[in-house]
Amino acid sequence: MSDARVIGVEHIEDARRRGRKVFEILPGDIVTSLAEETASRLGLELVYGPIEKEAVVKTDGKTSMRRNLYRRSPKWIAPDKSITQKAKRFSKIAIVGAGGVGSNIAHLAANLDLSDEIAIADIVPGLAAATALDLNHASGITRSHSQAYGAENLEIINDSDVVIVTAGRARTPGMSRNDLIQTNKRVIQATAEVIKTQSPKAIVIVVTNPLDEMTMEMLTSTEFPRSRVLGMAGTLDSSRFRLSLAKAAGVQVSDVEAITLGSHGDEMAPIVSHAKIKGRSLNRYLSDDEINNSSNDAITGGGQVVALKKLGSATIAPAHATIEILDHIRGAKSGAVPVSVMLDGEFGLTNVVLGVPVHLGLKGMISVEEIALSDIEKIALSAAADAIRKRLGLT
Ligand code: LAC
Repeated sequence: MSDARVIGVEHIEDARRRGRKVFEILPGDIVTSLAEETASRLGLELVYGPIEKEAVVKTDGKTSMRRNLYRRSPKWIAPDKSITQKAKRFSKIAIVGAGGVGSNIAHLAANLDLSDEIAIADIVPGLAAATALDLNHASGITRSHSQAYGAENLEIINDSDVVIVTAGRARTPGMSRNDLIQTNKRVIQATAEVIKTQSPKAIVIVVTNPLDEMTMEMLTSTEFPRSRVLGMAGTLDSSRFRLSLAKAAGVQVSDVEAITLGSHGDEMAPIVSHAKIKGRSLNRYLSDDEINNSSNDAITGGGQVVALKKLGSATIAPAHATIEILDHIRGAKSGAVPVSVMLDGEFGLTNVVLGVPVHLGLKGMISVEEIALSDIEKIALSAAADAIRKRLGLT
Protein backbone atom coordinates (compact mmCIF):
# COMPACT_ATOMS: atom_id res chain seq x y z
CA MET A 1 0.00 0.00 0.00
CA SER A 2 1.37 3.38 -0.92
CA ASP A 3 1.50 6.05 1.79
CA ALA A 4 1.93 8.88 -0.70
CA ARG A 5 0.16 12.06 0.32
CA VAL A 6 -1.70 14.78 -1.48
CA ILE A 7 -0.14 18.00 -0.19
CA GLY A 8 -2.76 20.74 -0.15
CA VAL A 9 -2.93 24.34 1.03
CA GLU A 10 -3.87 23.24 4.56
CA HIS A 11 -0.59 21.29 4.94
CA ILE A 12 1.43 24.32 3.89
CA GLU A 13 -0.49 26.70 6.14
CA ASP A 14 -0.19 24.33 9.07
CA ALA A 15 3.58 24.03 8.60
CA ARG A 16 3.89 27.83 8.42
CA ARG A 17 1.84 28.24 11.60
CA ARG A 18 4.28 25.97 13.37
CA GLY A 19 7.16 28.16 12.33
CA ARG A 20 8.59 25.74 9.72
CA LYS A 21 10.74 27.22 6.96
CA VAL A 22 11.04 24.07 4.88
CA PHE A 23 8.43 21.54 3.80
CA GLU A 24 9.68 18.09 2.92
CA ILE A 25 8.07 16.40 -0.11
CA LEU A 26 8.60 12.66 -0.12
CA PRO A 27 8.77 10.46 -3.25
CA GLY A 28 5.26 9.77 -4.53
CA ASP A 29 3.69 12.82 -2.84
CA ILE A 30 1.39 14.90 -5.01
CA VAL A 31 1.59 18.66 -4.47
CA THR A 32 -1.38 20.68 -5.68
CA SER A 33 -0.53 23.80 -7.63
CA LEU A 34 -2.43 25.88 -5.09
CA ALA A 35 -0.21 24.41 -2.37
CA GLU A 36 2.86 25.39 -4.41
CA GLU A 37 1.55 28.93 -4.81
CA THR A 38 0.72 29.19 -1.10
CA ALA A 39 4.18 27.94 -0.14
CA SER A 40 5.84 30.56 -2.31
CA ARG A 41 3.52 33.28 -0.96
CA LEU A 42 4.24 32.32 2.67
CA GLY A 43 7.98 31.91 2.06
CA LEU A 44 7.99 28.20 2.78
CA GLU A 45 10.54 26.26 0.77
CA LEU A 46 9.39 22.98 -0.76
CA VAL A 47 12.28 20.53 -0.62
CA TYR A 48 12.19 17.19 -2.44
CA GLY A 49 13.31 14.59 0.07
CA PRO A 50 14.00 12.49 1.80
CA ILE A 51 16.15 15.11 3.51
CA GLU A 52 19.14 13.66 5.20
CA LYS A 53 18.52 13.91 8.90
CA GLU A 54 21.26 14.97 11.25
CA ALA A 55 22.47 12.30 13.61
CA VAL A 56 20.65 12.37 16.94
CA VAL A 57 22.52 14.75 19.21
CA LYS A 58 23.17 13.73 22.75
CA THR A 59 21.34 16.10 25.00
CA ASP A 60 20.41 16.66 28.61
CA GLY A 61 17.21 15.23 30.05
CA LYS A 62 15.38 18.54 30.33
CA THR A 63 15.92 19.50 26.68
CA SER A 64 14.98 16.10 25.43
CA MET A 65 11.81 16.15 27.53
CA ARG A 66 10.87 19.53 26.08
CA ARG A 67 11.45 18.31 22.55
CA ASN A 68 9.39 15.23 23.13
CA LEU A 69 6.53 16.99 24.81
CA TYR A 70 6.27 20.01 22.60
CA ARG A 71 8.16 19.90 19.34
CA ARG A 72 6.77 16.55 18.30
CA SER A 73 3.25 17.50 19.21
CA PRO A 74 1.04 18.40 16.25
CA LYS A 75 -0.05 21.42 18.31
CA TRP A 76 3.49 22.78 18.68
CA ILE A 77 3.76 26.39 17.60
CA ALA A 78 7.03 28.33 17.53
CA PRO A 79 7.22 30.38 20.74
CA ASP A 80 6.75 34.12 20.44
CA LYS A 81 10.15 35.47 21.44
CA SER A 82 8.75 38.90 22.26
CA ILE A 83 7.00 37.47 25.35
CA THR A 84 9.85 36.94 27.76
CA GLN A 85 8.60 38.70 30.85
CA LYS A 86 8.08 36.55 33.90
CA ALA A 87 5.97 37.90 36.73
CA LYS A 88 7.53 37.75 40.16
CA ARG A 89 5.80 36.13 43.10
CA PHE A 90 6.10 38.20 46.26
CA SER A 91 7.66 36.73 49.40
CA LYS A 92 5.41 38.67 51.72
CA ILE A 93 2.53 41.09 51.31
CA ALA A 94 1.21 42.86 54.41
CA ILE A 95 -2.27 44.31 54.65
CA VAL A 96 -3.05 46.82 57.38
CA GLY A 97 -6.80 46.82 58.04
CA ALA A 98 -8.99 43.73 57.70
CA GLY A 99 -12.19 45.58 56.82
CA GLY A 100 -14.02 45.16 53.54
CA VAL A 101 -11.21 46.40 51.30
CA GLY A 102 -8.37 44.72 53.24
CA SER A 103 -10.06 41.34 53.40
CA ASN A 104 -11.00 41.44 49.71
CA ILE A 105 -7.39 42.27 48.78
CA ALA A 106 -6.19 39.35 50.93
CA HIS A 107 -8.76 37.10 49.28
CA LEU A 108 -7.75 38.05 45.74
CA ALA A 109 -4.03 37.88 46.53
CA ALA A 110 -4.40 34.38 48.01
CA ASN A 111 -6.60 33.19 45.20
CA LEU A 112 -4.12 34.46 42.61
CA ASP A 113 -1.27 32.93 44.60
CA LEU A 114 0.63 36.22 44.48
CA SER A 115 2.74 35.78 47.58
CA ASP A 116 4.28 33.16 49.86
CA GLU A 117 2.94 34.99 52.91
CA ILE A 118 0.02 37.33 53.45
CA ALA A 119 0.17 39.11 56.82
CA ILE A 120 -3.00 40.85 57.92
CA ALA A 121 -3.09 43.33 60.82
CA ASP A 122 -6.17 44.90 62.40
CA ILE A 123 -6.75 46.41 65.84
CA VAL A 124 -10.19 44.76 66.16
CA PRO A 125 -9.55 41.73 68.39
CA GLY A 126 -9.53 38.48 66.42
CA LEU A 127 -10.59 40.01 63.11
CA ALA A 128 -7.29 39.68 61.22
CA ALA A 129 -6.57 36.21 62.60
CA ALA A 130 -10.09 35.07 61.70
CA THR A 131 -9.80 36.45 58.17
CA ALA A 132 -6.44 34.71 57.71
CA LEU A 133 -7.75 31.40 59.02
CA ASP A 134 -10.83 31.65 56.83
CA LEU A 135 -8.62 32.29 53.79
CA ASN A 136 -6.32 29.39 54.60
CA HIS A 137 -9.34 27.10 54.95
CA ALA A 138 -10.12 27.82 51.28
CA SER A 139 -6.66 26.69 50.13
CA GLY A 140 -7.71 23.02 50.23
CA ILE A 141 -9.96 23.94 47.31
CA THR A 142 -8.02 26.71 45.59
CA ARG A 143 -4.67 24.89 46.16
CA SER A 144 -3.14 28.33 46.70
CA HIS A 145 0.32 28.19 48.25
CA SER A 146 -0.10 31.57 49.94
CA GLN A 147 -0.10 31.29 53.71
CA ALA A 148 -2.11 33.95 55.52
CA TYR A 149 -1.78 34.94 59.16
CA GLY A 150 -3.25 37.77 61.16
CA ALA A 151 -2.84 39.66 64.42
CA GLU A 152 -3.84 42.82 66.26
CA ASN A 153 -0.20 43.68 66.48
CA LEU A 154 1.13 45.80 63.60
CA GLU A 155 4.62 44.32 64.01
CA ILE A 156 3.59 41.30 61.89
CA ILE A 157 4.05 43.46 58.80
CA ASN A 158 7.82 43.09 59.18
CA ASP A 159 10.06 42.41 56.16
CA SER A 160 7.31 42.74 53.58
CA ASP A 161 7.84 43.43 49.89
CA VAL A 162 4.66 45.49 49.85
CA VAL A 163 2.58 46.97 52.67
CA ILE A 164 -0.99 47.86 51.71
CA VAL A 165 -2.66 50.30 54.07
CA THR A 166 -6.44 50.20 54.13
CA ALA A 167 -6.94 51.06 57.81
CA GLY A 168 -9.00 54.05 58.83
CA ARG A 169 -12.58 55.18 58.94
CA ALA A 170 -14.70 54.74 55.85
CA ARG A 171 -17.34 57.19 54.69
CA THR A 172 -20.99 56.98 55.65
CA PRO A 173 -23.80 58.73 53.72
CA GLY A 174 -23.48 62.50 53.73
CA MET A 175 -19.73 62.43 54.35
CA SER A 176 -17.15 63.44 51.78
CA ARG A 177 -13.80 61.66 51.72
CA ASN A 178 -12.29 64.89 53.06
CA ASP A 179 -14.30 64.67 56.29
CA LEU A 180 -11.98 61.80 57.20
CA ILE A 181 -8.72 63.78 57.06
CA GLN A 182 -8.09 64.36 60.75
CA THR A 183 -9.10 60.87 61.96
CA ASN A 184 -7.29 58.94 59.28
CA LYS A 185 -4.18 61.10 59.42
CA ARG A 186 -3.49 59.73 62.90
CA VAL A 187 -3.96 56.16 61.64
CA ILE A 188 -1.49 56.81 58.80
CA GLN A 189 1.07 58.38 61.11
CA ALA A 190 0.93 55.45 63.55
CA THR A 191 1.16 52.92 60.70
CA ALA A 192 4.04 54.80 59.08
CA GLU A 193 6.07 54.57 62.30
CA VAL A 194 5.80 50.77 62.25
CA ILE A 195 6.46 50.47 58.50
CA LYS A 196 9.62 52.54 58.92
CA THR A 197 11.09 50.25 61.53
CA GLN A 198 9.66 46.86 60.51
CA SER A 199 9.61 47.05 56.71
CA PRO A 200 12.06 49.79 55.77
CA LYS A 201 12.49 48.51 52.21
CA ALA A 202 8.81 47.96 51.42
CA ILE A 203 6.73 49.60 48.74
CA VAL A 204 3.71 51.16 50.47
CA ILE A 205 0.33 51.28 48.76
CA VAL A 206 -2.10 53.63 50.49
CA VAL A 207 -5.82 52.92 50.09
CA THR A 208 -7.09 54.90 53.08
CA ASN A 209 -9.15 58.00 52.26
CA PRO A 210 -8.91 60.81 51.46
CA LEU A 211 -6.48 59.06 49.20
CA ASP A 212 -4.16 61.73 47.85
CA GLU A 213 -3.88 63.50 51.21
CA MET A 214 -3.21 60.25 53.09
CA THR A 215 -0.57 59.18 50.53
CA MET A 216 1.14 62.52 51.07
CA GLU A 217 0.96 61.99 54.83
CA MET A 218 2.46 58.49 54.45
CA LEU A 219 5.30 59.89 52.34
CA THR A 220 6.10 62.57 54.92
CA SER A 221 5.80 60.24 57.91
CA THR A 222 7.86 57.36 56.51
CA GLU A 223 10.40 59.63 54.80
CA PHE A 224 10.58 56.95 52.11
CA PRO A 225 11.55 57.97 48.56
CA ARG A 226 8.53 58.94 46.46
CA SER A 227 9.07 55.87 44.29
CA ARG A 228 7.97 53.65 47.20
CA VAL A 229 4.83 55.45 48.37
CA LEU A 230 1.92 54.92 45.99
CA GLY A 231 -1.74 55.82 46.35
CA MET A 232 -4.41 53.55 44.89
CA ALA A 233 -7.27 55.48 43.33
CA GLY A 234 -6.74 55.96 39.60
CA THR A 235 -7.00 52.26 38.81
CA LEU A 236 -10.37 52.17 40.62
CA ASP A 237 -11.75 55.40 39.14
CA SER A 238 -10.56 54.39 35.65
CA SER A 239 -12.38 51.08 35.97
CA ARG A 240 -15.58 52.90 36.89
CA PHE A 241 -15.08 55.33 33.98
CA ARG A 242 -14.58 52.46 31.51
CA LEU A 243 -17.71 50.69 32.73
CA SER A 244 -19.80 53.82 32.39
CA LEU A 245 -18.50 54.56 28.88
CA ALA A 246 -19.13 50.96 27.82
CA LYS A 247 -22.71 51.09 29.09
CA ALA A 248 -23.36 54.42 27.37
CA ALA A 249 -21.95 53.20 24.05
CA GLY A 250 -23.55 49.75 24.30
CA VAL A 251 -20.21 47.93 23.96
CA GLN A 252 -18.27 45.51 26.13
CA VAL A 253 -16.12 47.04 28.84
CA SER A 254 -13.17 45.24 27.26
CA ASP A 255 -13.68 47.46 24.18
CA VAL A 256 -12.94 50.59 26.21
CA GLU A 257 -9.56 52.13 27.07
CA ALA A 258 -9.80 55.10 29.41
CA ILE A 259 -8.12 56.49 32.51
CA THR A 260 -8.78 59.12 35.14
CA LEU A 261 -6.11 61.33 36.70
CA GLY A 262 -6.19 64.08 39.32
CA SER A 263 -7.66 63.62 42.77
CA HIS A 264 -9.72 60.74 44.12
CA GLY A 265 -12.70 62.99 44.66
CA ASP A 266 -14.51 65.93 43.16
CA GLU A 267 -11.40 67.11 41.31
CA MET A 268 -10.98 63.83 39.48
CA ALA A 269 -9.97 64.30 35.84
CA PRO A 270 -11.38 61.65 33.50
CA ILE A 271 -9.05 61.84 30.47
CA VAL A 272 -11.29 62.02 27.41
CA SER A 273 -8.51 63.02 24.99
CA HIS A 274 -6.82 59.60 25.27
CA ALA A 275 -9.95 57.47 25.77
CA LYS A 276 -10.87 54.98 23.06
CA ILE A 277 -13.81 52.76 22.27
CA LYS A 278 -12.84 49.94 19.93
CA GLY A 279 -9.68 51.91 19.18
CA ARG A 280 -11.54 55.07 18.15
CA SER A 281 -12.09 58.36 19.92
CA LEU A 282 -15.14 58.64 22.17
CA ASN A 283 -17.04 61.08 19.96
CA ARG A 284 -17.39 58.39 17.28
CA TYR A 285 -19.78 56.63 19.67
CA LEU A 286 -20.99 59.19 22.23
CA SER A 287 -22.31 62.76 22.36
CA ASP A 288 -20.60 65.36 24.56
CA ASP A 289 -23.43 65.00 27.08
CA GLU A 290 -23.00 61.23 27.25
CA ILE A 291 -19.24 61.64 27.75
CA ASN A 292 -19.85 64.17 30.54
CA ASN A 293 -22.35 61.84 32.19
CA SER A 294 -19.81 59.02 32.17
CA SER A 295 -17.18 61.33 33.66
CA ASN A 296 -19.61 62.22 36.44
CA ASP A 297 -20.44 58.59 36.95
CA ALA A 298 -16.74 57.89 37.59
CA ILE A 299 -16.42 60.88 39.92
CA THR A 300 -19.50 59.91 41.96
CA GLY A 301 -19.04 56.11 41.71
CA GLY A 302 -17.67 55.67 45.23
CA GLY A 303 -20.44 57.88 46.65
CA GLN A 304 -23.10 55.86 44.82
CA VAL A 305 -21.95 52.72 46.67
CA VAL A 306 -21.90 54.56 50.02
CA ALA A 307 -25.45 55.86 49.44
CA LEU A 308 -26.74 52.33 48.81
CA LYS A 309 -24.76 50.61 51.52
CA LYS A 310 -25.16 53.24 54.22
CA LEU A 311 -22.74 51.57 56.61
CA GLY A 312 -19.55 51.93 54.63
CA SER A 313 -17.96 52.29 51.23
CA ALA A 314 -17.05 50.08 48.27
CA THR A 315 -14.84 47.04 48.91
CA ILE A 316 -14.70 44.78 45.86
CA ALA A 317 -13.66 47.14 43.07
CA PRO A 318 -11.08 48.89 45.32
CA ALA A 319 -9.53 45.49 46.05
CA HIS A 320 -9.27 44.62 42.35
CA ALA A 321 -7.80 48.05 41.67
CA THR A 322 -5.12 47.39 44.31
CA ILE A 323 -4.31 44.02 42.76
CA GLU A 324 -3.86 45.81 39.43
CA ILE A 325 -1.10 47.89 41.03
CA LEU A 326 0.50 44.74 42.49
CA ASP A 327 0.41 43.18 39.02
CA HIS A 328 2.26 46.17 37.57
CA ILE A 329 4.84 46.01 40.38
CA ARG A 330 5.51 42.30 39.92
CA GLY A 331 5.64 42.51 36.12
CA ALA A 332 2.44 40.67 35.27
CA LYS A 333 1.18 43.81 33.52
CA SER A 334 3.10 46.55 31.77
CA GLY A 335 2.51 50.09 30.57
CA ALA A 336 1.58 53.21 32.48
CA VAL A 337 -1.17 52.96 35.07
CA PRO A 338 -2.80 55.80 37.03
CA VAL A 339 -1.35 55.98 40.54
CA SER A 340 -1.14 58.82 43.06
CA VAL A 341 2.48 59.84 43.58
CA MET A 342 4.40 62.89 44.72
CA LEU A 343 5.11 65.08 41.70
CA ASP A 344 8.50 66.57 41.06
CA GLY A 345 7.88 68.90 38.16
CA GLU A 346 5.92 66.45 36.02
CA PHE A 347 2.90 68.12 34.39
CA GLY A 348 4.36 71.37 35.75
CA LEU A 349 3.45 70.42 39.34
CA THR A 350 5.56 69.98 42.46
CA ASN A 351 5.05 69.21 46.13
CA VAL A 352 1.68 67.54 45.73
CA VAL A 353 0.47 63.95 45.51
CA LEU A 354 -1.84 63.40 42.58
CA GLY A 355 -3.06 60.65 40.25
CA VAL A 356 -0.84 60.51 37.13
CA PRO A 357 0.19 57.76 34.68
CA VAL A 358 3.08 55.86 36.23
CA HIS A 359 5.34 52.97 35.18
CA LEU A 360 5.87 50.54 38.03
CA GLY A 361 8.38 47.81 38.75
CA LEU A 362 9.82 45.78 41.60
CA LYS A 363 11.25 48.90 43.25
CA GLY A 364 8.02 50.89 42.98
CA MET A 365 7.64 53.83 40.62
CA ILE A 366 10.04 53.82 37.68
CA SER A 367 8.77 57.02 36.07
CA VAL A 368 5.79 59.28 35.54
CA GLU A 369 4.63 59.27 31.93
CA GLU A 370 3.81 62.82 30.93
CA ILE A 371 1.11 62.14 28.36
CA ALA A 372 -0.09 65.09 26.28
CA LEU A 373 -3.28 66.50 27.78
CA SER A 374 -5.93 68.80 26.38
CA ASP A 375 -6.10 72.33 27.82
CA ILE A 376 -9.20 71.43 29.86
CA GLU A 377 -7.46 68.37 31.29
CA LYS A 378 -4.36 70.40 32.22
CA ILE A 379 -6.56 72.89 34.05
CA ALA A 380 -8.36 70.03 35.83
CA LEU A 381 -5.05 68.56 36.96
CA SER A 382 -3.73 71.79 38.41
CA ALA A 383 -7.12 72.53 40.03
CA ALA A 384 -6.86 69.10 41.72
CA ALA A 385 -3.34 69.96 42.91
CA ASP A 386 -4.54 73.28 44.36
CA ALA A 387 -7.50 71.65 46.13
CA ILE A 388 -5.34 68.95 47.72
CA ARG A 389 -2.74 71.45 48.92
CA LYS A 390 -5.52 73.61 50.37
CA ARG A 391 -7.07 70.70 52.26
CA LEU A 392 -3.69 69.93 53.73
CA GLY A 393 -3.23 73.55 54.77
CA LEU A 394 -0.23 73.96 52.46
CA THR A 395 -1.42 77.17 50.77
C1 LAC B 1 -14.32 54.49 46.69
C2 LAC B 1 -13.70 54.67 48.03
C3 LAC B 1 -13.03 53.44 48.51
O1 LAC B 1 -14.01 55.25 45.78
O2 LAC B 1 -12.87 55.77 48.05
O3 LAC B 1 -15.12 53.56 46.55
